[in-house]
Amino acid sequence: MLQGKRILLIVGGGIAAFKSLELIRLIRKAGGAVTPVLTKAAHEFVTPLSASALAADKVYTDLFDLTDEAEMGHIELSRSADLIVVAPATADLIAKMAGGHADDLASTLLMATDTPVLIAPAMNVRMWLHPANQRNIATLEADGIQRIGPDEGDMACGEYGPGRMSEPQAIFDVIQTQLSDGPLSGKHVIVTSGPTHEPIDPVRYIANRSSGAQGTALATALARLGANVTFVTGPAMVPPPQGVNVVPVETADQMLNAVKSALPADIAIFAAAVADWRVVSEAKNKIKKGKTGAPKLNLDENPDILATVSRLRKNRPDLVVGFAAETENVIANATAKRKRKRCDWIVANDVSPETGIMGGDENAVTVIDAQGAESWPRASKTDVARRLAARIADAL
Ligand code: C5P
Repeated sequence: MLQGKRILLIVGGGIAAFKSLELIRLIRKAGGAVTPVLTKAAHEFVTPLSASALAADKVYTDLFDLTDEAEMGHIELSRSADLIVVAPATADLIAKMAGGHADDLASTLLMATDTPVLIAPAMNVRMWLHPANQRNIATLEADGIQRIGPDEGDMACGEYGPGRMSEPQAIFDVIQTQLSDGPLSGKHVIVTSGPTHEPIDPVRYIANRSSGAQGTALATALARLGANVTFVTGPAMVPPPQGVNVVPVETADQMLNAVKSALPADIAIFAAAVADWRVVSEAKNKIKKGKTGAPKLNLDENPDILATVSRLRKNRPDLVVGFAAETENVIANATAKRKRKRCDWIVANDVSPETGIMGGDENAVTVIDAQGAESWPRASKTDVARRLAARIADAL
């Protein structure tokens, strides 16, 4: 239920704008309050009167409406909401948000607020796939803006592909999850992510390949379910998530220490690609190429952070989850790894180069627990993270 919650709904100018009327109805039915804001272009698709009637509230449309400015300034309008929803989020509105424009009421509200924002994009397929739009979406993701959709399907313009706005019910479900207190409220979760760098000398290091994308998506999904997340990350390629406690580290030793200091925790998830070995003694100065040929590196094994935490007698988290990146016999190897490391679940995936999973946007995982193996269809790393977070919440 959304009793006592207020949603500021920004309606952009697109054919999908009619669906936002249904969204207003769903929010009201659940007991939430909606303040609609229509962009100038949105007037071409829905009337302020219909939005106002469904919302049972005034509709705001023009930045320079002096009466409104006197009654309720735009800053107050955006800050008094629990959530801002932009539906449909047109390519133009998305570009304005990414660029920080503030030349009308909608874009000014979005600039003036620190309230969480959820966008539901809707546009033509080519516009969605255009590099400029994809760049803008990446910027918004890095800014911590939540997104639902777009869906794939037939479009009003006669084309087929990604670009349709998600259905009002699906948008409503995300709103409800976002505004409910969350099944993981009050739970402390440690997530490790990214690679570790083990220095050879001041300019060289040993590392595993890891973008940090899956661990980051997982930390975001857990935080959205209300968890208090400590995110211990090696030098990753993607920016860390918003709304979590980020602890940056370089080496496996530092990662282990950071994890130990973050204990106690209810849940610990080890998504980092920790380097297995480190150089026994890091050279103080850059090793010079010379006549003596390639240097012989003296390697030592790194601590296994997952196995260490799984074996703790005191302070062992209730649920310990490891990852297994494999290139062959994925399920057999991962099942053996679960036993060897004594963790509760292993999330296994095939990272053979032909899968495109390493460094890509998608993942296909098998979750292995004491009951057996459960393979999930290939999906975006964000969707895999959401499903995993939901499974974790169910298990507690
Ligand atoms: O043995 P392997 O590296 O395949 O195990 C993968 C799992 O163990 C991952 O969850 C990874 O984060 C964790 N791990 C760790 N410390 C290590 C090596 C792996 O926590 N030194």
